[in-house]
Amino acid sequence: MLCIIALLATLGFAAGGTGASDASKIVGPNACAECHKQESEAWQGSHHFKTFRDMPRKKEANEIAERMGVSRIRSEGICLGCHYTVQQKDNKKQPIAGISCESCHSAGDDWIRVHSQFSGKTEKTETKAEKEARLKLADSKGMIRPSSIYRLTKNCYGCHVVPQEDLVNKGGHSAGSAFEMVSWSQGEVRHNTWHSKGKQNVPANAARKRMLYLIGLGVELETALRAVGKSTVRRTYAFAMARRADRARKQLAVAAKAVPNVPEIAKLIEYGHAAGLKLNNERLLAAAADGVSKTLASISEKYDGSTMAGLDGLIPGTDKFKGKVREGGASN
Ligand code: HEC
Ligand code: HEC
Ligand code: HEC
Ligand code: HEC
Repeated sequence: MLCIIALLATLGFAAGGTGASDASKIVGPNACAECHKQESEAWQGSHHFKTFRDMPRKKEANEIAERMGVSRIRSEGICLGCHYTVQQKDNKKQPIAGISCESCHSAGDDWIRVHSQFSGKTEKTETKAEKEARLKLADSKGMIRPSSIYRLTKNCYGCHVVPQEDLVNKGGHSAGSAFEMVSWSQGEVRHNTWHSKGKQNVPANAARKRMLYLIGLGVELETALRAVGKSTVRRTYAFAMARRADRARKQLAVAAKAVPNVPEIAKLIEYGHAAGLKLNNERLLAAAADGVSKTLASISEKYDGSTMAGLDGLIPGTDKFKGKVREGGASN
């Protein structure tokens, strides 16, 4: 019995926070900044960077921690998964930064060399086939690149939905953010400065925004279905997660009308209604979430957004971008 409880606790933790970061494989943001100076500077202007220092000093944080029985926010498990980057060195786990490069691109130790070394040649002499093989190898070693929209998005929602019942019901932590993928990724979080050699912080183009928007709604639904499945009492958490799932289904229904040429959206909605949003329904809700996941993976493969102009009227405009964009300009 004890083993089962321990196992569930582990699974719960992986579902909140990011499954992406294995502490023993974290190299830390300074290692990335050696080459990615501009991206690092953009990150340093974000809440993701600042939470490291600021969060534990807040009254609200200490109240949540106290209710959760956490006496030191930075050294006990429960807050670390979402607010910090944790590195393991000599058997000791230590928070080294806020939400950083590897919280989103995944722990780097296995791929940092692979992705950056132009197959042992230079940027100019590496062939197209070699480049493709290199990036594929980096992906297979866990790297989450901007082209993997589904995996990237899943990471964001894994933290931003706050799928942890106790933290919300007992701790009084907010039941997640009013998150939307385009507006939340294109403001203070944006750091697309690499491919323009630092000249510009390039916004996602129209086709990419459509993909971010649609996959975002789908991942919201997937994450919320799983979260409802894990809820055990009719309290704040269960209601908030059920509302999220319902809202995502409704927004997907609007999207389905706007782009009738993408029949997969109807499939997402069908899965969204496949299991009741109620307690003690984990098996069916998880199966529905798996269906959403599979459908999203195939949408990511089949489409690039170019045929989804119908979504443009639904996507939040620049006035809704969250936080201040750091413009490019200096050299990388
Ligand atoms: C030794 C220099 C170096 C280091 C250190 C480095 N990178 Fe890179 N990174 C590169 C180069 C070079 C490219 C461009 C590769 C290409 O053109 O395919 C790149 C590209 C990327 C991309 C874009 C990939 C794409 O598909 O467009 C991401 C994301 C990235 N790096 C993240 C990281 C992260 C996170 C770290 C730290 C864990 C890191 N890098 C460390 C050199 C580096
Ligand atoms: C499952 C992920 C997750 C976990 C675990 C988590 N948080 Fe959060 N936390 C978030 C997210 C996401 C936000 C941003 C919410 C928003 O958009 O309003 C946040 C916001 C906060 C805020 C308000 C923002 C700020 O910095 O003032 C406080 C305070 C906070 N968390 C404290 C804690 C404490 C203390 C713990 C551990 C007991 C904890 N959190 C665990 C995801 C998490
Ligand atoms: C909150 C999650 C998050 C964090 C933290 C983060 N990234 Fe990214 N990164 C992304 C996303 C999302 C994109 C693609 C954005 C888009 O499509 O507009 C991206 C794109 C990139 C790119 C491609 C840029 C280009 O010009 O195409 C590089 C390089 C990169 N990140 C490196 C880093 C490094 C280095 C850090 C740490 C200093 C970092 N990232 C931190 C999510 C993150
Ligand atoms: C490891 C967990 C984690 C991941 C992954 C993550 N975030 Fe966050 N994010 C947080 C937390 C926690 C906060 C609140 C920080 C604070 O204010 O203390 C936050 C804050 C933000 C903010 C600032 C919100 C505000 O109130 O102004 C934006 C924007 C944001 N995240 C976007 C994203 C995007 C886009 C992604 C994915 C590309 C992402 N985040 C991935 C945990 C995460």
